[in-house]
Amino acid sequence: MPELKEGLAGVVVAQSRISKVFGEEGRLIYRGYDIDDLAEGASFEETAHLLWHGELPDEKELQAFEDELASRRRLPDDVLDLVAGPLAEAHPMAALRTAVSALASEGPEPAATPEGVLAAGADILAKMPTIVGAHARARRGLDPVEPDEDLSHAGSFLQQLTGERPSEEAERAMDLALVLHADHGLNASTFSARVTASTLSDAYSAVTSAIGSLKGDLHGGANANVMRVLETIEEQGDDPVQHVKRRLDAGEKIPGFGHRVYRTMDPRAVHLKDWSRRLGEATGETRWYETIRAIEDFIREEKELPPNVDLYSGSVYRCMGIDIEYYTPIFAMSRCAGWIAHVAEQYDGNRLIRPRAEYVGDLDRAWQDIEDR
Ligand SMILES: CC(C)(COP(=O)(O)OP(=O)(O)OC[C@H]1O[C@@H](n2cnc3c(N)ncnc32)[C@H](O)[C@@H]1OP(=O)(O)O)[C@@H](O)C(=O)NCCC(=O)NCCS
Repeated sequence: MPELKEGLAGVVVAQSRISKVFGEEGRLIYRGYDIDDLAEGASFEETAHLLWHGELPDEKELQAFEDELASRRRLPDDVLDLVAGPLAEAHPMAALRTAVSALASEGPEPAATPEGVLAAGADILAKMPTIVGAHARARRGLDPVEPDEDLSHAGSFLQQLTGERPSEEAERAMDLALVLHADHGLNASTFSARVTASTLSDAYSAVTSAIGSLKGDLHGGANANVMRVLETIEEQGDDPVQHVKRRLDAGEKIPGFGHRVYRTMDPRAVHLKDWSRRLGEATGETRWYETIRAIEDFIREEKELPPNVDLYSGSVYRCMGIDIEYYTPIFAMSRCAGWIAHVAEQYDGNRLIRPRAEYVGDLDRAWQDIEDR
């Protein structure tokens, strides 16, 4: 029996050209480009093009890609009715998962090929913000907002969420958050997408699997949980350090800290930290940033745990007035770019992903007829 690796930690299951996490250095690259350069210079649309095609687009290619995404934002009526009706009270990630699955009812089944997933992927990527925006509004009893083809992916999403044209600053911050979350090696949701694709299932199935994985507290759910901790501290009028200390003493993990691969500061957190401060100052809500800073210093000292991407993203979204429940769906809207790139890579030279378990259950039990059990 091969050695058991719990949580597949350290196991290499694929070769990939899409992104790499340098855990010791705190560095991340997409297709060879440093995340710091992309954060400074690339839009989310440019980033998705880079992840999907391996190259940064030239002006013409970028325009064509932006136009394609913008033209695909509108949801089919039955999917919009589903999101705003039966799914309105569902967990936002459950609603997103179901709505993406429902998109597959439109048009022919996408081919299990790199070309097939890129075509379907543009559709899914374009429509996810519309789903999230419509769901968030339905929950508040508001009608959905029509997508605006003249706005960027990030800008249109904010408008579909709030019903108002976003400020330049909010659009930039959302665009940056989408760039930073777009891919991250073979993380759990990406692995889910690749496992599904490896059976030669289709793009909608792969993304639906991935959304289910991202929903969990140990993965995409952590950004919302950070904000819940901050709110609890505020509601109780508690001291942030004492609060976190009590949680640690009770054996709890503190969301926003620790990582399977990073051993130092997550480079994405550096950018979000900066924006958390900037938006906090712009909106007069610096308390979130200040509380996080206090917790960050304490945990670093006490547990030697560096912050991850989720520590500051929630406070950035909070300063934009976004409900906590939608932080993970925003992560999904971004990571969808990476999922699609990975599914395309998986199809190219596919081998079924099928590990083994070490069986530790009973052996050789004697059969009993039902009346004797
Ligand atoms: C991300 C995460 C799941 C990585 O898990 P992992 O690689 O399996 O690492 P482990 O959970 O085994 O953690 C290793 C050690 O650090 C501790 N640790 C890790 N993250 C911690 C956290 N957020 N708070 C407190 N302690 C933590 C563990 O208790 C463990 O300590 P031990 O060796 O004394 O038992 C984990 O760090 C975590 O749960 N973080 C909080 C959730 C989160 O922010 N997720 C988003 C990730 S981007």
